[in-house]
Formats: sequence, structure tokens, C-alpha cells
Amino acid sequence: MQIRAAVLEEFGSPLVVQTIELAEPRAGEVLVRLVACGVCHTDLYTASGADPSGYAPTVLGHEGAGVVERVGEEVTSVAPGDHVVSLFSPQCRECVHCRDPRTNLCLAIREQQNQGYLPDGTTRLSRDGEPIRHFMGTSTFAEYTVMPEIALAKVNEEAPLDRACLFACGLSTGLGAAMNTAKVEAGSTCVVFGAGMVGLGAVAGCRLQGAERIVCIDLSEERLELARGQGATDVLVGGGDAVERVLELTGGFGADYTFEATGNVAVMRQAVESARMGWGLATMCGVAGKGETLDVIPRYLITGRRVAGSSFGGVKGRDGVPQLVDRWLAGDIDVDPFVSHTLTLDEVNRGFELMEQQAGIRSVIRFDD
Ligand SMILES: NC(=O)c1ccc[n+]([C@@H]2O[C@H](COP(=O)([O-])OP(=O)(O)OC[C@H]3O[C@@H](n4cnc5c(N)ncnc54)[C@H](O)[C@@H]3O)[C@@H](O)[C@H]2O)c1
Ligand SMILES: [Zn+2]
Ligand SMILES: [Zn+2]
Repeated sequence: MQIRAAVLEEFGSPLVVQTIELAEPRAGEVLVRLVACGVCHTDLYTASGADPSGYAPTVLGHEGAGVVERVGEEVTSVAPGDHVVSLFSPQCRECVHCRDPRTNLCLAIREQQNQGYLPDGTTRLSRDGEPIRHFMGTSTFAEYTVMPEIALAKVNEEAPLDRACLFACGLSTGLGAAMNTAKVEAGSTCVVFGAGMVGLGAVAGCRLQGAERIVCIDLSEERLELARGQGATDVLVGGGDAVERVLELTGGFGADYTFEATGNVAVMRQAVESARMGWGLATMCGVAGKGETLDVIPRYLITGRRVAGSSFGGVKGRDGVPQLVDRWLAGDIDVDPFVSHTLTLDEVNRGFELMEQQAGIRSVIRFDD
């Protein structure tokens, strides 16, 4: 079939919205009609050429939500009409990692996905007979996409899809960092560095876990205001003195749990040093630049601080995303403040501009208007 999609033709150039070919789903694959898709930093990172593993041409987009249109052979977990959220982090439920509660890093299709292919090593996207590679196994800057069944979370049909798409990446990452990776205990003190989509999600996750105190640190007053709305009890403007400020707020000890959601390795170090001696756990969510390293003074570890990292918030997507969506529908998570702009597919590059200006938290592309 012919679809309209935003193609990354060349690194550093705007995406080109055009008509390309999408083939039918094969065994284990699903054709999804996209209703909405968030514009995320990872899309921009790849489009800019900064990602060393990036390739072009490809159809970007990985924060998709839509409706199942058709399924290939052997597909059993979703059916036409189901509402789904795309998962760049799949869940096969069979590999050694899927069967272990300690990780969400499914091993089933990693290699092919990283290279831009569906699990059978081919692509469904093409133009004039030339294959075009998929992106993150999702390619959701498009009217339709074909994805592996194991990379789709079936969500409650009551959930508006132009909000549900945020659970495909940043929001679940932040919520999950607090709820799954750190497993924040009720009554504890938490510090979240960064108040973008991921950091605000972590603030909300700490609140859902019953944290007593949640300090959010960002450079933008506007974003700190949003953090208050998600449950931050204290907010601080970040900088070189952030660790001292946290220590002042916590009786000199630091926090039970800290979270880093900036991608800046100097802030990651602050997150480690703001964690409490004895048991403080610092969880890193940010993606650092190529070659950058995190500096930790070993004494901080000897005296009981721990460092963890979290990919997609440790969320096993097919099981966990529907649960998070249900908590939103139950009124536990306030998603509306995250959506600052609604765009058409043709305006996708505007989504990148807004992101570069830090205007709002998320732009969401809607395909039905
Ligand atoms: N681990 C994962 O699975 C995963 C998933 C999505 C995104 N990420 C990464 O998480 C990070 C955050 O993503 P986002 O979408 O929220 O980004 P964002 O750019 O919207 O938010 C980052 C925030 O950090 C703040 N910040 C910058 N420097 C700071 C400082 N010195 N002190 C305090 N705050 C500071 C910025 O003001 C901004 O609000 C990025 O590195 C992104 O690549 C990771
Ligand atoms: Zn993302
Ligand atoms: Zn798996």
C-alpha cells in the first residue's frame, strides 16, 4: 500500500514527508494505522547525525499509538481494531531476559532491530523498489507501519491515543525508573535531576510510590512549575551547587533515591553525590554523548551509595504499558500537561524546532486531521 511518511534522507537536513510503499505484514507482524506519535529527542538525535549507529534513508518516529488494521500469520495477541502503543523495547516473553523479573531488555530481535530490519532481516518499507530501513523497529512518523507483534502493547480503548503515545517512550521511562528500577519505598526522600518528559515522569512515579519528599531540579522555572504539578514538594534551579543544596534540604545526608534525566554526565555525578550514605540509590536515565564517562569517587560507593541505570524504565512493555495507561485512566497520572503542541505529519520538522527551543514538553503529531 502507499503511505505518507516522514523520511530522513540525509543527516542534518529536515525530514521529507512523501509517499512511499509499505508491504503487507508477514508472519508475526502487524499492520498498524497510526493515530498519534510524539516527537522525541532520540528522533532528533538520529536526524542530526550525532548517533554513530544511525542510518539513512529511514522513517523516524518511535512514540506511536494507533489501531491494528491487519495481522500476519501466527499473530495471536492482537486483532484488528485493538488499540496499541508501539514499543521500541519489545517483550517476547520467551527469552532469558523476558523470563527474568530483573530486566526488561528483551533479546529476541535486538540485532535486526538495531540495523533497521524486521525480525526476518528484511524491510516492509520501500520506494521505487529500493528498500528503506525501519527505525527502532517502529517507524511511526507515518500513516501506517508494520511492526512485530512482540513490540505492541495492547491498551484500554478508552485511552485517547494522542496522549497514550507518550507511554511509548519518555513517560514510561520516567515512571518506570521510580516504580520498577528504583522501587521507591513509601515515606522516602527522592531527588529528580531534569524536568523534561523523563524527569517529570520520574517525579510522578515517586509520588505514586508514596514518597514523602520529592525534590526536582532543573534549569527552567517553567518546567519546575510543571514538576510541582506532578508532585514535587521542593524545586531547585540546578547548577554547580546542586549537591550542597540537596544536602542542606536533607539534614546533611542526601536522598534515599536520586534520578538523573538530563543526559549530562556532570549531572549524573551530582545524582550519585546527592544519594544518601548507607543506602542511597542513584538511577541514571539520561543518554550521554558518545565517549563520555561518569566520574564516581569510589568512597561514595564504599559508604553505601549504589548506582543503577534504567532503559525504558525497566518496563516490560506488553505487560507494563497497559498497566500504566490504566493508572492514567484511573486518574493517578496527569498526562495533559505534557502535550504542549499538536502538529500534522507535514509539520514534523516544526516538532524538532520546538524541541530545540525547549518550548513545552512534547509535540504530538495527529494523523487523523
Ligand atoms: N533510558 C531511556 O530509556 C531513555 C528514554 C528516553 C529518553 N532518555 C534520555 O533521558 C534524558 C532526558 O530526556 P527528556 O526527553 O526528558 O529530555 P529534555 O531535554 O526534555 O529534559 C532534560 C531536562 O534537563 C534539564 N537540565 C539540563 N541541564 C541541567 C542541569 N545542570 N541541572 C538540572 N537540570 C538540567 C533541562 O533544563 C531539561 O528540562 C535524555 O538524555 C534522553 O536521551 C532515556
Ligand atoms: Zn523517545
Ligand atoms: Zn524477550
